[in-house]
Amino acid sequence: MLDLIKVSKTFFAGTLNEKKALNSIDLHLDRGDFLTIIGSNGAGKSSLFNAIAGVFYVDTGAILLDNQNITMVADYKRAYDIGRLMQDPMKGTAPSMTIEENLALAYSRKAHKSFFALNRRDSEYFRELLARLDLGLENRMKTKVGNLSGGQRQAVTLLMCTISLPKLLLLDEHTAALDPATAQKILKITVDIVAESSITTMMITHDIRSALAVGNRTIMMDEGEIILDIKGEERDRMTIEELLDYYYKERKKQLTDDRILLS
Ligand SMILES: Nc1ncnc2c1ncn2[C@@H]1O[C@H](COP(=O)(O)OP(=O)(O)OP(=O)(O)O)[C@@H](O)[C@H]1O
Ligand SMILES: [Mg+2]
Repeated sequence: MLDLIKVSKTFFAGTLNEKKALNSIDLHLDRGDFLTIIGSNGAGKSSLFNAIAGVFYVDTGAILLDNQNITMVADYKRAYDIGRLMQDPMKGTAPSMTIEENLALAYSRKAHKSFFALNRRDSEYFRELLARLDLGLENRMKTKVGNLSGGQRQAVTLLMCTISLPKLLLLDEHTAALDPATAQKILKITVDIVAESSITTMMITHDIRSALAVGNRTIMMDEGEIILDIKGEERDRMTIEELLDYYYKERKKQLTDDRILLS
């Protein structure tokens, strides 16, 4: 459903600061895949998402979504098919709008309805979705999102990103700014929503244990390349130590991530 063919992106080409963020990336995802992505700081993980979402155009290569070549399609057009969640819980929702209004906004975009045309049935649907989060937010639909905790807000953002059933969901360390207990909760909610909606998902995480536990496939990136791609039994058997050893053997250096979690 997603194909990246020899995708490259270099920043500041031809200068002293030249940086190859993506180096001839080949990647194929099947519908319903849940891919987790690990790698050191600056490995190119977020750049991979930026390329897919169209934050920038790639220098060379092609990106196909459902066999449609989207390489030169503008980001706002790709946004109909690609949902994206970032690290910062303060982004992704409108703080001065209520939970219900935020969801309505996201929902109306997909339904191609006017925001004002949303009715009681839509509202009931939002309540149902919120109830499934098990955070009590279904009783706070008129609360301004700005008054929620980071975890609650990230949960609402997750709903906003998935309510429109995008073809592809990109999660860029979306639990990294939360305390460990909340992060686990949001991760569980993520897994539940993805399983229920069968949205093809890519998740960047610094939490290697989660990377191996969640989803059906894991890739490791370094210096703009995919240096490991595992699934099935090989992935089931893989331990955190083996992954770190692999990185060390391949790159002759330790995997470094300022947010890395190894336990
Ligand atoms: N817009 C940009 N302009 C210039 N350089 C960039 C830009 N985006 C990324 N880079 C550079 O490309 C490289 C890859 O960055 P990227 O953000 O993709 O790494 P990452 O794997 O997401 O790292 P982290 O774990 O720190 O989030 C880095 O050297 C970064 O400085
Ligand atoms: Mg990043």
